[in-house]
Amino acid sequence: MPVPTVSLSLQPTDAEISPLLFGHFIEFIENCIQGGVTDSGSPASSETGIRLDVLEKAEKLHPAILRFPGGTYANIYHWMDGIGPVSSRRKRRNLIWGGINGNAFGTAEFVSYCRKLGAEPMLCVNMASGTAQEAADWVEYCNGEPGTYYADLRVADGFPEPFHVKYWCIGNECYAEPDLGPQHDPLRYVSDAWEFTKHMKLMDPSLKLIYVGNPLDQEWNSTVLESLAPVCDYFSIHHYSSEGARGPYGPFASLQEFRSQLDTLIPLLHACSVSGKKLSPWYRFPGRETKIRLAIDEWNIWDSTPRGKDNPYGLKMVYTWRDALWTACMLNTFVEYAEDIGIANLAQMVNVLAPIVTSGDTSFVQTTYHVLLFYRKYLQGRKVQCSFSAPPLSAGPAGTLSMLNASACLKTDGTICAFLVNLSQDLPLDVTFSENYCMLESEVLSAPSFSAFNTPECDVIVHSSCANPQETIHLGPASVCAVCLSPAGASDTVAQAAAMG
Ligand code: AHR
Repeated sequence: MPVPTVSLSLQPTDAEISPLLFGHFIEFIENCIQGGVTDSGSPASSETGIRLDVLEKAEKLHPAILRFPGGTYANIYHWMDGIGPVSSRRKRRNLIWGGINGNAFGTAEFVSYCRKLGAEPMLCVNMASGTAQEAADWVEYCNGEPGTYYADLRVADGFPEPFHVKYWCIGNECYAEPDLGPQHDPLRYVSDAWEFTKHMKLMDPSLKLIYVGNPLDQEWNSTVLESLAPVCDYFSIHHYSSEGARGPYGPFASLQEFRSQLDTLIPLLHACSVSGKKLSPWYRFPGRETKIRLAIDEWNIWDSTPRGKDNPYGLKMVYTWRDALWTACMLNTFVEYAEDIGIANLAQMVNVLAPIVTSGDTSFVQTTYHVLLFYRKYLQGRKVQCSFSAPPLSAGPAGTLSMLNASACLKTDGTICAFLVNLSQDLPLDVTFSENYCMLESEVLSAPSFSAFNTPECDVIVHSSCANPQETIHLGPASVCAVCLSPAGASDTVAQAAAMG
């Protein structure tokens, strides 16, 4: 049977790909922070209880932004529990996810962890049991110059320099009826969010604020966006794909649904970006200066079916190679929508729905980790529009999907990097480029099967690379490939520059 061939046409655009697409998230949820990020008493931890093996793996992912402390947990978090001497911090029951939070990992520990990773800190305020004043005090603790009460508490904790925390989420999934908080109605969310905004922005006018959007409710989105457009820097949407009853391609079908949600939401975002009225000077802080962008500040595959007493919310996900390919497709989607997506945070970073997993005093990485590393290495610069017509995968309960999923970027050195995912479990795919490009190198990730997964003992991912690929890229079944290209003619210069380092 002849190998199907796809011709890819690449059109560079002006759209910058935000580096903040490589974000992560840590929450007080099961053993994500306590037992993942930190683990006092473990021989794998530093003197201050930071798990060094986890840190090392996280550093390699080079997260650009890290979100904390929830998630749903933000609804019961009181930041003052997590400051001052660790021995006198308040212990509270974690009423959302179970267990007890001793609060040893508080704001200063979080910001220090971000600094180690080179990540921007992103904090989520408590709109349920917290107040606007408490949120503004948190801003002062983080960003205030010494000389006022809460800023001086930071100084007393050993941090004379302000933390300069720029990104603040105004609540989390406030529309969710079962969650704590009175903002399930969009009008109530808007009025409370304004109050939080005023208190926080008066404290620090330079904050970038992220407001809650609902992927499934356009009325929520239009009410919130139309009212908060003058101050809304980012609009949050969460996306968790799952297989459901749709078989192995279920998560990819769910990704198509996510794309439809973006297609509905983005025109509203544009309309509100333009029409958002200017703030009157009596607010005493400036309004939004740039267009409103999306923050996909929680995304992943999550099958939340309860799996027994030890895994009641399905949070201990074991990620297969299929899930890693889905992760690649999600990153391709972020590139496709680069004009409108400014931030994305994989939920979460360690142990819970995570690429990094601890196992006693050691740790290992899931299949998804390899794909995240792969994109982190190559994806930067500007979006390149990819056009192609690929054969469909045979139709099934997941609908009809294309065999190829792709994205591309134009890097600052003038080379293009194309990311190609062959979704077929059994067929190879040949890819050619319709313009005249010279191929510099290619790198491929694959695994023995869709259902292969990593364990502490065995990593199933196979890496291969090619220094001078031929004109056709041969993609094996279920593989992901990064191909670096230069426009023909420029190849000598780029190759020479690359050779010279
Ligand atoms: O990431 C797990 C949970 O999923 C978060 O706490 C919540 O925001 C979302 O529903």
